[in-house]
Amino acid sequence: MKTVIPLLTASTFTCLASASASIGRPEISALEKRATPQAPNGYAPAPVDCPSIRPSIRSAAELSPNEQEWLQRRRANTIEPMRDLLGRLNITGFNAQQFIDNNRNNASALPNIAIAFSGGGYRAMTNGAGALAAFDSRTSNSTSAGQIGGLLQAATYVAGLSGGGWLVGSIYSNNFTSVQNILNEGENAVVWQLGNTILEGPQQSRVRIRNTVDYWTNLYDTVTAKSDAGFETSLTDYWGRALSFQLVNATNGGPAYTFSSIQDDEDFKNANAPMPILVADERAPGEVIISLNSTDFEFNPWEMGSFDPTLFGFAPLRYIGSNFTAGRLPDNERCVRGMDNAGFVMGTSSSLFNQFILNVDSVNVSQLIKNAVTGLLEGIGEANNDIADYTPNPFYHYNNGTNPSAPSKRLTLVDGGSDLQNIPLNPLIQPIRKVDVIFAIDSSADTLPPRTGAQNWPNGTSLVATYQRSTMNSTMQNGTAFPAIPDTNTFVNLGLNNRPTFFGCSAQNLSGPAPLIVYLPNAPYTYNSNTSTFQMQYNNTERNAMILNGYNAATQGNSSLDANWPQCVGCAILSRSFDRTGQTVPDVCKECFDRYCWNGTIASNEPPPYWPQMKLKATKVTGSGAKQFLPNVFALMLASMASSFFLL
Ligand SMILES: *[C@@H]1O[C@H](CO)[C@@H](O)[C@H](O)[C@H]1NC(C)=O
Ligand SMILES: *[C@@H]1O[C@H](CO)[C@@H](O)[C@H](O)[C@H]1NC(C)=O
Ligand SMILES: *[C@@H]1O[C@H](CO)[C@@H](O)[C@H](O)[C@H]1NC(C)=O
Ligand SMILES: *[C@@H]1O[C@H](CO)[C@@H](O)[C@H](O)[C@H]1NC(C)=O
Ligand SMILES: *[C@@H]1O[C@H](CO)[C@@H](O)[C@H](O)[C@H]1NC(C)=O
Ligand SMILES: *[C@@H]1O[C@H](CO)[C@@H](O)[C@H](O)[C@H]1NC(C)=O
Ligand SMILES: *[C@@H]1O[C@H](CO)[C@@H](O)[C@H](O)[C@H]1NC(C)=O
Ligand SMILES: *[C@@H]1O[C@H](CO)[C@@H](O)[C@H](O)[C@H]1NC(C)=O
Ligand SMILES: *[C@@H]1O[C@H](CO)[C@@H](O)[C@H](O)[C@H]1NC(C)=O
Ligand SMILES: *[C@@H]1O[C@H](CO)[C@@H](O)[C@H](O)[C@H]1NC(C)=O
Ligand SMILES: *[C@@H]1O[C@H](CO)[C@@H](O)[C@H](O)[C@H]1NC(C)=O
Ligand SMILES: *[C@@H]1O[C@H](CO)[C@@H](O)[C@H](O)[C@H]1NC(C)=O
Repeated sequence: MKTVIPLLTASTFTCLASASASIGRPEISALEKRATPQAPNGYAPAPVDCPSIRPSIRSAAELSPNEQEWLQRRRANTIEPMRDLLGRLNITGFNAQQFIDNNRNNASALPNIAIAFSGGGYRAMTNGAGALAAFDSRTSNSTSAGQIGGLLQAATYVAGLSGGGWLVGSIYSNNFTSVQNILNEGENAVVWQLGNTILEGPQQSRVRIRNTVDYWTNLYDTVTAKSDAGFETSLTDYWGRALSFQLVNATNGGPAYTFSSIQDDEDFKNANAPMPILVADERAPGEVIISLNSTDFEFNPWEMGSFDPTLFGFAPLRYIGSNFTAGRLPDNERCVRGMDNAGFVMGTSSSLFNQFILNVDSVNVSQLIKNAVTGLLEGIGEANNDIADYTPNPFYHYNNGTNPSAPSKRLTLVDGGSDLQNIPLNPLIQPIRKVDVIFAIDSSADTLPPRTGAQNWPNGTSLVATYQRSTMNSTMQNGTAFPAIPDTNTFVNLGLNNRPTFFGCSAQNLSGPAPLIVYLPNAPYTYNSNTSTFQMQYNNTERNAMILNGYNAATQGNSSLDANWPQCVGCAILSRSFDRTGQTVPDVCKECFDRYCWNGTIASNEPPPYWPQMKLKATKVTGSGAKQFLPNVFALMLASMASSFFLL
C-alpha cells in the first residue's frame, strides 16, 4: 500500500479526500506492466518494422474500424452504469429499470453521453477535475442521494482541450486513475504537485530528479535526442516534456509514454472507460491568425486527424512520424513510432503556454541549455512561437484540393482554443458519433475588467464561437449542427454564465441532429476560482479548493442549491431518448427544462459589470504564507467542518 497523508485518511467529514476502499490500488510491481511506455527509443521517434498491413491515411467519411468495434462494446458496457445512474437520479414518474429493459437490446436507443473540458490553464484543469470527480462513481459519496456520480461510467466520450486536455490526458496516461486517487496520495503523489513550477521541476526523489539542473538536463537530453534522430523540434517539445513531469506518473515524466498506447490501457481496451479525445487547431502555411476557418484536429487513442472538410482524414497515431505521401506509406519508407509522446500531444493542445519555457533564462541552469531553448525560435519567427511541429506531415499530398497543408512536408498545430472554441465540442458534434448530450465544463477566462466586472470568468464566448462556426459556412459545417447560442451580453444579463444552462432543448428547432448542451460555467460556489490562466503555481490547499469548487458547480453544492438538480441531470441525459422512443416526458423533467433551458430570450444590451457572489460558504485558503503544507490542510478541513457543503 502506498503512503497517504494520515490527516486526510483519518477524516470522516471529507468526501473527495476521505479514506475509502477505492484508494487501495495495488502497488505496481514492475513499471513495464503498464501499457504506456511503448515508444521504441524513449522520447526520440525511431523506425520499427511495419505491421503486415502497412499504415495509411483514411477518409473521415466513417468512424475508424477501431472506434466502431470499440463502440459496440462500450455502448453495451454503459447499460448497467446507466441503469444505476438513472435509478439513483430518481426521476419522479420515470421508471429507469423499465426504460433500460425495454431498450437493452438496442443500446443505440439509450443515451449517448459526452463530457467536454475547456481550456484555461491550471484553472481549467482543477475546476474540471472537480466536475470529473463529481461524475465519477469511484469518488466516495458521489453515489449518495443528491449526487451525480456514475455519469462518467455511463459516458462514451471525454474530450479535453489545453488545460482541460491536461486533466483528460493525465487521467488516461495514468491507467484511468481517478481524481480522488491523485488527491489521496497528497504530497506523495508524483503528479499534480502544482506548487512545483514547470521551470524548477519536481522536488520528488521518487521521480529520480534531484534538482532543477538535473531536470533541465533531462528535458534538454530528451528533446535533443529527438532532433538528433532527424525530427524537427519546437518549444512545444520542451513544454510537453516539462508538463509530463506534472501529469504522467512515471520516472522522468515517462519519455516513452505515447498517447496511442492508451488503446492498450486495461480499462479503455475493455471498453470500461469512455474514449478520450484531445483537440488542437491547424496553423496552415502562411497563416498567423487562427480563425474559425482553421481546421480542428483531434487526437484519440487510435488516430489524429479531422472531420473538417478541409482535411477530412485521419492518420494512425502510432505511426505518425512515418513519411506518408498521398495517404500511403510508400514501399521504400519505414514505419516510425514514438512521435505521439503523451506529453507532446498534451503540449500541442496547450501550445499557448509553451513560451513559458522561455523563462528558462531566469533559472540557474547552464548557458548551453538556455541557448538551445531560445535557439529554437530563430528558425520559426516570432509569429510562430506557439506551434507544435508535426513534420513529416502525415497528410502530405492528401486531399490536395482542400487540405491547406497538402503541399507542405510540415504540419503545424497550435492550442485547441486558438480559434476561440475553447470547449472541445467539434469532435462531439460530428453527426456520425451520434452524441445525445454533452456536459460542457467551461473554465474560460472571458470577462475583461474593468468594463465587464471581475476577471477570468466565462461569459459564453466559447459556445458563441462554436455556434458561429456551425452557421457561417455550410462547406465548413459539413453536416454538423449546433444549438442556437445567444450573444455574450445575453449570457451575462440572463445569468446563463453563472449557473447551469441547457442549450438545444427542443430538438425540433435544430438545423440538424445536434446534442443537448449542458453548460456548466465556472462560477464562485465555494472559492473564487477565477484565477489567472497564466498562474502556473498553486499550493495544494488552493488546488484542492479549486477542485472542490468544480465539484460543487457540477453537483450544485450537493444539490443544496436545487434539490432537483440530480433529476434535472437525468432529464438532460434522457432528453433525446425521450424524443427517439416517443416516451412521455415526465412532469419533473418539464419543470427542469423550464428552469434550465435557455428559452430563446435575447437581452443584448450592455450588461452591468459582472461581479458574481459566492453561492455557498467559501473555502478558506489563507495560511499567512506558512511554508508547511499539513497545518493548512488541517485548517481547510476545520473550515469545512463548519459547512455542510464541504467535500474536501
Ligand atoms: C490499471 O487499473 C486497473 C483497475 O482499474 C487494475 O486492475 C490494473 O492492475 C492497473 N494496471 C496497472 C498496470 O496499474
Ligand atoms: C425519490 O424521490 C421520491 C419523491 O419523488 C422520494 O420520496 C424518495 O425518497 C426518493 N428516493 C431516494 C432514494 O432518494
Ligand atoms: C503512480 O505510480 C505509483 C507507482 O507505480 C503507484 O503506486 C501510484 O498509485 C500511481 N498513482 C497514480 C495517481 O496513478
Ligand atoms: C473564412 O474564410 C472566408 C473565405 O476565405 C472569409 O471570407 C471569412 O472571413 C473567414 N472567416 C473567418 C471567421 O475568418
Ligand atoms: C464533408 O466533407 C467531405 C470532404 O469534402 C465531403 O466528401 C462530404 O460529402 C461532406 N459531408 C457533408 C455532409 O457535407
Ligand atoms: C523521411 O523522409 C526524410 C526526407 O524526406 C528523410 O530524411 C527521413 O529519413 C525519412 N524517414 C525515414 C524513417 O526514413
Ligand atoms: C497532389 O499534389 C501533388 C503535388 O502537386 C501531386 O504530385 C500529386 O499527384 C497530387 N495528388 C493527387 C491525388 O492528385
Ligand atoms: C465576453 O468575453 C469576450 C472575450 O473576452 C469579451 O470580448 C466580451 O466583451 C465579453 N462580454 C461580456 C458581456 O462580458
Ligand atoms: C467556406 O469554407 C471553405 C473551407 O475552408 C472555404 O474554402 C470557403 O472559401 C469558405 N466560404 C466562405 C463563403 O467563407
Ligand atoms: C455526501 O453527500 C450528501 C448529499 O449530497 C451530503 O449531504 C453529505 O454532506 C456528503 N457527505 C460527505 C461526507 O461529504
Ligand atoms: C424565458 O426566459 C426569460 C428569462 O430568462 C423569462 O423572463 C421569460 O419569461 C421566459 N419566457 C418563457 C416563455 O418562458
Ligand atoms: C496557498 O495559496 C493561497 C492562495 O495563494 C495562500 O493564501 C495560502 O497562504 C497558501 N498556503 C500556503 C501553505 O502556502
